[in-house]
Amino acid sequence: MPKYILIIGACGQIGTELTLALREKYGSNHVIASDIREGNDELMLSGPFEILDATNYDALEEVIAYYDISEIYLMAAMLSATAEKFPMRAWNLNMNTLFNVLNLAKEKKINKVFWPSSIAVFGPNTPKEDTPQNTIMEPSTVYGISKQSGERWCEYYFNKFNVDVRSIRYPGLISWKTMPGGGTTDYAVEIYHKALAEGSYTCFLGEDTKLPMMFMDDAIRATLQIMEAPETNIKERSAYNLAAMSFTPKELAESITAVMPEFKINYEPDSRQQIANSWPNSIDDSIAQRDWNWKAEFDLSKTTATMLENLKNKV
Ligand SMILES: NC(=O)c1ccc[n+]([C@@H]2O[C@H](COP(=O)([O-])OP(=O)(O)OC[C@H]3O[C@@H](n4cnc5c(N)ncnc54)[C@H](O)[C@@H]3O)[C@@H](O)[C@H]2O)c1
Repeated sequence: MPKYILIIGACGQIGTELTLALREKYGSNHVIASDIREGNDELMLSGPFEILDATNYDALEEVIAYYDISEIYLMAAMLSATAEKFPMRAWNLNMNTLFNVLNLAKEKKINKVFWPSSIAVFGPNTPKEDTPQNTIMEPSTVYGISKQSGERWCEYYFNKFNVDVRSIRYPGLISWKTMPGGGTTDYAVEIYHKALAEGSYTCFLGEDTKLPMMFMDDAIRATLQIMEAPETNIKERSAYNLAAMSFTPKELAESITAVMPEFKINYEPDSRQQIANSWPNSIDDSIAQRDWNWKAEFDLSKTTATMLENLKNKV
């Protein structure tokens, strides 16, 4: 039986590329994109699309029945920087959408769920270098608290109701097809746009703020890989640590000046600095490597070359 997949939050930074990748793999008509707003042309023209507010359980149930959906990728959320401005809205969106999807799976209306977690589940008391899979967490941001709670609920629904839910703690994601949606690592995308448009960038994090990052192609590959892995291989039902590279804004700027020597950067840290300071510098993802053969392909210089080349061609 061919399966039908629903992406919720399909017009965002990850959802756009995830939808395109899933359509490539399973066929356009088998992958239904949905969001509360329309996305870019590439996404909108690539297959079926529904306007859907995932906080509305009845609307969600209707779309699932109509398209005979068996798998959901839940990408709707309020990200770290925006969530600090609207804590209750962030909590309601991030938790209610997750409960709606987990309950649909509990009721056997869908078979499988992907829900992304984040390195934001870690906090200031977490070991900063090579942060292990299982360690002190204690997140200090609204977003991190919602992600850690989400992880606990995913594991609970797996243990109590046998819900096949799978999750990854994404690092900061770098991509060129869409702009990021209000996170603390957005600087690592904006910098490439500004480098090409203006030859300079003012960074909202300090020059030595080292954070775990990943190029979007790796993140999409990881997402498809964990969802395809045999159920028995998925030993972590909270979320898997995932890593590719770690760098500071200064190191990122140096990778740009290596190809654009005239590029200039300066630093004006704002409130996002405090969020960044609470997160790990680097992540140990050996458990994901062991359980479902995860391996990153993009380092910083490959990321910079790919970003600049694609953004140049886009203009
Ligand atoms: N981008 C990153 O660096 C990163 C890192 C770690 C984790 N994540 C997680 O990955 C997921 C996707 O992130 P993203 O960067 O693509 O976010 P984004 O902000 O770019 O996209 C989120 C999408 O959800 C949609 N949305 C908002 N409310 C909705 C609702 N009620 N119903 C349906 N859709 C709604 C928005 O319109 C938007 O298109 C989130 O859970 C996020 O926390 C992202």
